[in-house]
Amino acid sequence: MKMFFHLVGLLAARAVCAAAPFDPLSHVNLFIGTVNGGNTFPGATLPHGMVKVGMDTDGDNFAGYDGRPQFNVTGFSQLHQSGTGGAVPLSNFKLFPVPQCFAFEQCLTTIASRKTLRKLLPDGSPDDFASPGYFSTNLSTDVRVELAATRRTGLHRYTFPSNSTVPRILLDVTNDGQISAITPELNINPATGRMTASANFATSFGPGRYDAFACVDFKGEGYHFDGPSEWGPYKINYPDKNGVDLSQHYYSWGSEHGGLLSFPQDTNSGTTTILARVGVSFISTAQACQNAEEEIGDWDFARVVSDSENQWRDILSRVKVDTENVDDDTVTLLYSSLYRTHIVPGDYTGENPGWKSSEPYYDAFYCNWDTYRTLYPLMSLHDPENFARIVRGMIDIQKHEGWLPEAREAGKPQFIQGGSHGDPILAEFFVKFSDHAAKLGVSANGLYAALLADAEDQPPNWNLQGRQADVWKEKGYIPSDTTYPGGANTKQVSRAIEYAFDDFAISQVAKILGKTSDAKKYVSRAQNYHNSWNPNITVPDLANFTGFMQPRFVNGTWNYTDPRHCSVNDPLQSTCFLNAIRRDGFYESSPIVYSQYVPQDTADLITLQGGEANFIDRLNWIFDQNYFDSTDEPSQQIPFMYHYANAPGLSTQRSRQVISKWFNTSLIGLPGNDDSGAMGSYAFFYLAGMYPLPATKQFLLSSPYFPQISFFNPVYKSTTTIKSINFTGNPVNGTGGNVFVKSVKVNGKAYKSNCYLEWDVFTSGSTVELELTDDISVTCGGGADALPPSISTGGYN
Ligand SMILES: *[C@@H]1O[C@H](CO)[C@@H](O)[C@H](O)[C@H]1NC(C)=O
Ligand SMILES: *[C@@H]1O[C@H](CO)[C@@H](O)[C@H](O)[C@H]1NC(C)=O
Ligand SMILES: *[C@@H]1O[C@H](CO)[C@@H](O)[C@H](O)[C@H]1NC(C)=O
Ligand SMILES: *[C@@H]1O[C@H](CO)[C@@H](O)[C@H](O)[C@H]1NC(C)=O
Ligand SMILES: *[C@@H]1O[C@H](CO)[C@@H](O)[C@H](O)[C@H]1NC(C)=O
Ligand SMILES: *[C@@H]1O[C@H](CO)[C@@H](O)[C@H](O)[C@H]1NC(C)=O
Ligand SMILES: *[C@@H]1O[C@H](CO)[C@@H](O)[C@H](O)[C@H]1NC(C)=O
Ligand SMILES: *[C@@H]1O[C@H](CO)[C@@H](O)[C@H](O)[C@H]1NC(C)=O
Ligand SMILES: *[C@@H]1O[C@H](CO)[C@@H](O)[C@H](O)[C@H]1NC(C)=O
Ligand SMILES: *[C@@H]1O[C@H](CO)[C@@H](O)[C@H](O)[C@H]1NC(C)=O
Repeated sequence: MKMFFHLVGLLAARAVCAAAPFDPLSHVNLFIGTVNGGNTFPGATLPHGMVKVGMDTDGDNFAGYDGRPQFNVTGFSQLHQSGTGGAVPLSNFKLFPVPQCFAFEQCLTTIASRKTLRKLLPDGSPDDFASPGYFSTNLSTDVRVELAATRRTGLHRYTFPSNSTVPRILLDVTNDGQISAITPELNINPATGRMTASANFATSFGPGRYDAFACVDFKGEGYHFDGPSEWGPYKINYPDKNGVDLSQHYYSWGSEHGGLLSFPQDTNSGTTTILARVGVSFISTAQACQNAEEEIGDWDFARVVSDSENQWRDILSRVKVDTENVDDDTVTLLYSSLYRTHIVPGDYTGENPGWKSSEPYYDAFYCNWDTYRTLYPLMSLHDPENFARIVRGMIDIQKHEGWLPEAREAGKPQFIQGGSHGDPILAEFFVKFSDHAAKLGVSANGLYAALLADAEDQPPNWNLQGRQADVWKEKGYIPSDTTYPGGANTKQVSRAIEYAFDDFAISQVAKILGKTSDAKKYVSRAQNYHNSWNPNITVPDLANFTGFMQPRFVNGTWNYTDPRHCSVNDPLQSTCFLNAIRRDGFYESSPIVYSQYVPQDTADLITLQGGEANFIDRLNWIFDQNYFDSTDEPSQQIPFMYHYANAPGLSTQRSRQVISKWFNTSLIGLPGNDDSGAMGSYAFFYLAGMYPLPATKQFLLSSPYFPQISFFNPVYKSTTTIKSINFTGNPVNGTGGNVFVKSVKVNGKAYKSNCYLEWDVFTSGSTVELELTDDISVTCGGGADALPPSISTGGYN
C-alpha cells in the first residue's frame, strides 16, 4: 500500500526539496491496525466527524476495511466506528459501482454477487491509498473510487472505465454490517436521481435499535446529465425497472434491498466520472438532504478534501518533533497514534433524536472504560476546545437521561465494562481547566451534579447506566452474591476497584470547588479497594507474592479466585470478556493485573505488597511471566509503576520494550482493538516519554523518542518543549542506550522530580531539559516531592 504521501504533499513536491516544511499529514499511516483485530478505520472523516465514509470488505475488520488483498469489496458506507469489538457497527448505506451488466433488470445486486476484489500493486498489496480526509482504491472492475467527508455528509467520486457504456451505482439500504435492518424505506426521484432511504438498525455493543436516514444525489463531473437514464429499487438480485420505492417488494428479515440507477456515459472524455453526495441523519431524510446541501452545496471534491486536511493539520501540528536521529517509522507511529485519538467520539450535534438542546451532542463512546486513561489527558495537552465540547455533550446527556454516558452508540446506552468512567473524564477536564471552564461553555454546577448522579443514584440497570451505587455505598465493595433484576453480579471486583478510582476523580473536583466535606467523603471512598484486597492469597505453587484482589460475599467472606484467572497462564483458560454468566469477578484482565490498579494510591499498594523491593519483584514477575496484557487497558500503566518505587529507569526500559514488541507502522502493528483511540493515545504517550494520571495535575515522565517534542495548548496559548540533552537515538529493541532520565530542569532550574511533571509546566509554556544517561539505576531525585503523588503520602491534599 502507498500511504506516505497525501494529496497536497504530492503537489508541493516535498520529495525534491529538503527544506520543505514538515507536514504531519505526510506522517499519518491510516492502515495501521486494519488487520489482526485492530479494527481501525482508514477512510475519510473530519476530526471527530459524524460521517466516516469508508470501504467495506468481507474481511474481519469491524470498521469495514481489511488490508489483506484477498478480501472483496462489498461497498462504500457512510458511518463506522474505529477500533471496536462487539458486533460490526454502523456500516450503513453502502454505495457500489456497477460498470457493466447485460440489462438493468439483470444486474446482480446482493453483496454475495456484486462483491469485487481490488487491483493489486506489484508487491501484492491492494491498490488503496489513504491520508487524513481522503481515501481511494482501484477496483478490479477498473472503477476508481475516491472518498471525502464533511461532518454529516460523504462525497464519493466514481470514475468508470471508457468501456463502461452504462455506468450504474447502487444504494444498499439494508446491509449495515450485521444485516440487522428492519422497516427499510427507499424513494427514488426519477427526474433528479435523488434517492432517500431509511431503516431501523441494531446497535453493536448492547441492546437498543436506532433509525438512520440518508439522502443521495448524483452529478456528472466534467459533463452534465439531467437525472438517471434508468432507475428502480431492487430486492435480492432483482432490480425492478421504473419502480420508485420498495412498496412492491415484501420485506423479510435478512433480505437485501436498495436502489439502482443507470447514468448516461460521458462521451467526451475517456472515462465517466460521477459524484455521489450522501447526506446522513439520525433525525429524518429531510434533514439528511439539508445536511448534504448545506455542507457540500458546491460539489467540489478537491475543496472538501482540502478543508478536512486543514482541520487535521491544525490539530496534528500542535505537536511538533525534532526528527534528527529518529527513524521515519517512529515519526509515523507518533502522528498516526495522534490521528487515531481524534476519530471518535463523533460530533453528532443536531442529530440527537432524543431531545432538543442548544448544547453540543457527541455520540460513539466505545467505551469510556477504554479511553479515560490516556485519550482525554492527551486532548488536555493539545485540544481542550474539542474536549470541552465533548464534556458539555456528556453533561447534557446526564441531564436528560440521569447518568453520564459510558458506552453509547447511535443514541443508545450500550454495555458498561466497569466503573462509571464519565467521572474521570469530566474530572480530567475540570482539574486541568477549571479556570477556563466557563469560557469554554462548561458549567461547573452541571459537571458536579453529573458526577454526583453517577456516584450516588442507583440506576434501574447498571449494566447500561451509572453504577451499582447502593451496595457500593453500603458495603464499599460489590458482593458476588447480590442479585438485581436480570441476574447476579458479574465483573464485581474490577468494578469495585474502578468505582474507587472514579470516586477519587470526584474528590479532586470537589476539592477545587471548595466542597471540603464532599472531598473528604470521596477520598475516603477512593480507598475502598482495600475491601477487595485479601492479604493472604498467593498464586498456586508460588509463595513469593501474597495479597491479591478477590471476590467477597455479602456476609463478608471471600470466594477464592486463582489470581491467574483470565491470564495467559490461567489453567482453566477462561476469557474475561463481557458475559452475563460469568461470576468470577474480573473483566478483561486477571486478578494479578487488577491488583496493580490503584493509580490514586500506588504508595499504599506498595505497602500492601510488602515494600518497594517486593513491589519491583512483583512488577518484574508480571512481565517475565506474561501477565502484562498489551491488548487491554488495565495493564497500560504497569510499565510505568516502577516510578513509584523510585526506579524510573526500569519504567523507561519496560515502556520502550512495550513499543518495540507490539507497536509499529505495519498493518498488524497494533495489539488488539484500538478501542476508539485508547491504544493510539497510549502509544503516543509512551513515544512522548510520558504516562498521564487522569483527573490529576501530573504526568509521569520518561524520555521521549525525539530529541525535542513540543505541545501547543490553544487555551493557554502556550508551547512547552521537552528537550533531551545528549539524545543519541532509540535502542532498537527498547533496551539499553542513552535513554534514562538523570536530571530534569524546567526553564533552566533544577526540577523537584525526575519522575513527573506538573500541569503548570504545560500551561505556562516551559522548556523542560532532560539530562539522559545510559545508567538504568537513575532515581526520582532526593527531595520531599520527588516521588509521584499518592493519596496516602498526602500527594493530593
Ligand atoms: C473474492 O472474490 C473472488 C472472485 O469472486 C473469489 O475468488 C474469492 O474467493 C473472494 N475472496 C474471499 C475472501 O471471499
Ligand atoms: C488508481 O488508479 C489511478 C489511475 O487511474 C492512479 O492515479 C491511482 O494512484 C491508483 N491508486 C489509487 C489508490 O487511487
Ligand atoms: C473493459 O475492458 C477491460 C479490459 O479489457 C475488461 O476487463 C472489462 O471487463 C471491460 N469492462 C466493461 C464494462 O466492458
Ligand atoms: C489472613 O490470615 C491471618 C492469619 O491466619 C488471619 O488472622 C487473617 O484474618 C486473614 N485475613 C483474611 C482477610 O482472611
Ligand atoms: C521467589 O523467591 C525465591 C526465593 O527467594 C526466588 O529464588 C525466586 O526466584 C522467586 N520467584 C519469583 C518468580 O520471583
Ligand atoms: C457467606 O455466604 C456464602 C455465599 O452465600 C456462603 O457460602 C457462606 O457459607 C457464608 N458464610 C458465612 C460465615 O455465613
Ligand atoms: C465463586 O468463584 C468461582 C470462580 O472462582 C465462580 O465460578 C463461582 O460462581 C463463584 N461463586 C459465587 C456464588 O459467586
Ligand atoms: C510489527 O509488530 C507485529 C506485532 O508485534 C510484529 O509481528 C511485526 O513483525 C512487526 N513488524 C515490523 C516491521 O516490525
Ligand atoms: C553530553 O555528552 C558529552 C559527551 O558525549 C558530555 O561531555 C556532556 O557532559 C554530556 N552532557 C550532559 C548534559 O550530560
Ligand atoms: C536487545 O537487548 C539485549 C539486552 O537485553 C541486547 O543484548 C541485544 O543486543 C539487543 N538486540 C538488538 C538487536 O539490539
